[in-house]
Amino acid sequence: MPQQGQPQDVLAPPATAAIFLVVTVRPGGEDAVRGLLPDIAGLTRAVGFRSPEDGLSCVTGLGAHLWDRLYGPPRPRGLHPFRALAGAVHTAVSTPGDLLFHLRARRPDLCFELARQLMSRLAGHADVADEVHGFRYFDERDLLGFVDGTESPSGPDAVAAVRVGGEDPAFTGASYVVVQKYVHDMRGWNALPVEAQELAMGREKLSDIELPDERKPSNSHVALNTIVDADGTQHQIVRDNMPFGSIGADEFGTYFIGYAGDVGVIETMLEKMFIGDPPGNHDRILDFSTAVTGGLFFVPTADFLDDPSPRLALASAATAADPPPTSDDGPPDDGPSGDGSLGIGSLRRNGTS
Ligand code: HEM
Repeated sequence: MPQQGQPQDVLAPPATAAIFLVVTVRPGGEDAVRGLLPDIAGLTRAVGFRSPEDGLSCVTGLGAHLWDRLYGPPRPRGLHPFRALAGAVHTAVSTPGDLLFHLRARRPDLCFELARQLMSRLAGHADVADEVHGFRYFDERDLLGFVDGTESPSGPDAVAAVRVGGEDPAFTGASYVVVQKYVHDMRGWNALPVEAQELAMGREKLSDIELPDERKPSNSHVALNTIVDADGTQHQIVRDNMPFGSIGADEFGTYFIGYAGDVGVIETMLEKMFIGDPPGNHDRILDFSTAVTGGLFFVPTADFLDDPSPRLALASAATAADPPPTSDDGPPDDGPSGDGSLGIGSLRRNGTS
C-alpha cells in the first residue's frame, strides 16, 4: 500500500506573484500529458533553482474528464466536473478545464518561465483555456480594497483542511482545488460608502477586524462562508486568492482559489454564496463580483505524478470491495446540476457530509 504521499506544494508560503493556467487537452494529447506529469517537479526545480530565495512552486490539478481519459475508473471520490449553480440572481458557471497549473513565487518571471516550459511540452496537444497573472496588492488586499486571506488556516489546521484522509485510502495526502475568476463592478462597488462595503464583507476595511456578530449581516461574505456544525466544529478551506487586472481593458478581478481535502466544504460555501442561506439570501459581494470561470480539480500527491500505478491499483481494489455511488456528473462543464435541478435541495449544513 502506498505510504501517505508527499503532497504537492499546496501550502506554499505567501507569494507575491502567481499564474493560474487552466488548460484543455486535445483528443490524442493524453500521452503528452502522461509524459509531462513526472517531469513537472524537475522543471520546477530547474527554473526555481536559479533564484531559490524566490520560492517558485507549482501545483498541478487534474480535471474529472481528463482523469477518465488518462486512467479510467475509479476516480478519486470527490472528483467530478465543477457543478454550475444558478441562484435567483447570480450564477456560478462551469467552464472547460482539464489541467490546472497554480504557479507561485516572489517574482513573476519565475512563474512565467515555468508556465512557458510546461506549455512547450504540451504544444500541439493542449490549449490554454484561461490564463491569469495575479499580483500581490499592498497588504494582501483584493481590488475591492479588503485584506484577503486573514482567516485562511495555517499550520496544522491548514494541513487538516487540505488533505484527503482515510475516507479515500488510495489517495491520502491529496487535495481538491476549486478555481473561479471573478470580475468586479468597481464603479458600483466604489459608489458604496465604506460602511456598506464593510457590511457586505463582514470585516472592517482599514483595520481588517471582523465585525461583531450583532453587526455582521447574514448575507455578508464572511457570515455565509463560516461553516460550523452543531457541535462547534468549523469546516475550513485554504485560500490563496490573487488580484489581477488590465487598466486598458477596464478589467479588475479576484482569482479565487480554494483547496480542501473534502471538496464538499467548498461546494457548500458556493451554495451558500450563490443560492443563499436561506435560499435567496445570497452573498452581497456577488452583486459586485461576477464569476466568469469555474473549475474543480484533483491535486494528487507528488508520488502519483511520478508513477500513478500503485495508487491506481489500490483504488481499483478498494472500489471492487466497496463500489461508490453512481456518478453524479452534470452535463460537461456548462450546465446546472446533473439532476437538472439547481442543487438547492442539497444545501448542506455539514461540510463533511
Ligand atoms: C470575488 C471573490 C472573492 C473575494 C474578493 C473574497 C474576499 C474575501 C475577504 C476579503 C475575506 C475576509 C478576510 C479573510 O478571512 O480572508 C474573505 C473570507 C473568506 N472567503 Fe472569500 N472572497 C471571494 C470568494 C470566495 C469564494 C468563492 C469562497 C468559497 C467558495 C470564499 C471563501 C471564504 C472564506 C471561507 C472566508 C473566511 C470566512 C471566515 O471564517 O471568517 N471566498 N474572502
